[in-house]
Amino acid sequence: FQSYLHNSIALSRSSFPKDFMFGAATSAYQIEGAANTDGRKPSIWDTFTKEHPEKISDHSSGDVAEDFYHRYKEDIAVIKEIGLNSFRFSISWPRVLPFGRVSAGVNPEGVNFYNSMINELLSNGIEPFITLFHWDLPQALQDEYGGFLSPKIVDDYRDYVDFCFEEFGDRVKYWVSLNEPNYFSCFGYALGATAPGRCSNYIGNCRNGNSATEPYIVIHHMILCHASALKLYRLKYQASQKGTIGIIVTAFWKEPKFDTIASRKAASRGLDFTIGWLLHPLTYGDYPESMRTLVGDRLPKFTEEQSQMIKGCIEFVGVNYYTARYVDESTSSTSVNLSYTTDSQVIESTEKNGIPIGQQAGSTWIYIYPEGLREMVFYIKRNYNDPSIYITENGMADNYSMSINDLLNDSLRIKYHYLHLSYLLQAIKEGADVRGYYVWSFLDDFEWEFGYTFRYGLTYIDYTNGLKRIPKSSAFWFQNFLHGENVTT
Ligand code: BG6
Repeated sequence: FQSYLHNSIALSRSSFPKDFMFGAATSAYQIEGAANTDGRKPSIWDTFTKEHPEKISDHSSGDVAEDFYHRYKEDIAVIKEIGLNSFRFSISWPRVLPFGRVSAGVNPEGVNFYNSMINELLSNGIEPFITLFHWDLPQALQDEYGGFLSPKIVDDYRDYVDFCFEEFGDRVKYWVSLNEPNYFSCFGYALGATAPGRCSNYIGNCRNGNSATEPYIVIHHMILCHASALKLYRLKYQASQKGTIGIIVTAFWKEPKFDTIASRKAASRGLDFTIGWLLHPLTYGDYPESMRTLVGDRLPKFTEEQSQMIKGCIEFVGVNYYTARYVDESTSSTSVNLSYTTDSQVIESTEKNGIPIGQQAGSTWIYIYPEGLREMVFYIKRNYNDPSIYITENGMADNYSMSINDLLNDSLRIKYHYLHLSYLLQAIKEGADVRGYYVWSFLDDFEWEFGYTFRYGLTYIDYTNGLKRIPKSSAFWFQNFLHGENVTT
């Protein structure tokens, strides 16, 4: 592997399986804009950015974003030109069902938008890969019963996805039920840093929630949502539509900081409290043992019937892999870490003996550690019955304050993708069932709590000049790679 790190081995598209999906990933609130257009109603992200501008680095919102809603045709043309054969995007629930439920009214213009976009993709030979929920819950459901804190969400979510399968499923074969429930719940309900911005002093700096219990309740309901969506699809649509439904996890690799039993156990707990939190119940019917022991009564319990229902509900795992952390045990109850809750008794760090785990990117939380992608893929294969895997996000941002020249000549991004693809290819050769790879992201976009200060795109957006799109060097690099050239960095 050292030779990859020294950029000496050329990568070629033809080394990957023929039907491998190479795509770019996005989400509705981050790119669509048109927030108050054609009947869309607010999501919790519209509310959060309005009520808490101080929680967004540049006090911005996704009101306009990159205006993908109006410019999708020109963007899809570029996706095609690069040679990507798939596009991952999400459906904005409040754009199609403005008040959350079919009974409260369908928004035909929202439905038309997704129909036209899906058709545009297909007519350009690009496979749509749709996330049904990427964090933008209709505000109406948050107001009515607290959104994912209430079990009522399970029925509403199932009805919403039923509506999507019915409307779009004749053409869409790849569905993701939920994007990163672990991030959504911990940042939204433990740290209060993202919508709906709830937390208590237990971890976060506010008093409107309960950081000790709410993240667990939210995920509990999300697991039930995923399973109900899958059951519904199998019962009602599978035979005719022949699609598949996966779930996406936030997948930081955890590298034991020291060669000690304590460090190795901490790494294992860290993985339990992130990916195991979802994949364990959806494979085996209950939470990992470490979580049951350490969280105790605060961890909701599945009834016997629920446990039977959720077991075996993984058709594929979507892995959002960006980076890794060193981990060691911690008994301090106040350490906030990227397992997102303090209960895992893990302390994470980005360095060992003063040496960082990898080079730091403009998105400051990302240290480049491509080895972790291969490790993660095999960890999932070993522990969760060898599911099919899609790398649904992989990428790094540059900081907005760099010069436009440096932003366009994004050599570090090229190196990042080259390294991750190299390790991924190695994993595939070693027997991992990985079927696709999606770059985060296609466009510079609204990056949640970081606003527009992190630029992840293959395409630069000129926010001061009519949202003009300019392909970065990385877009050309992917174009060469996908058109059959052997590439290094
Ligand atoms: C993932 C999300 O967690 O990371 C994306 O699914 C997000 O929506 C991406 O944009 C980058 O994260 P961040 O925190 O740097 O904006």
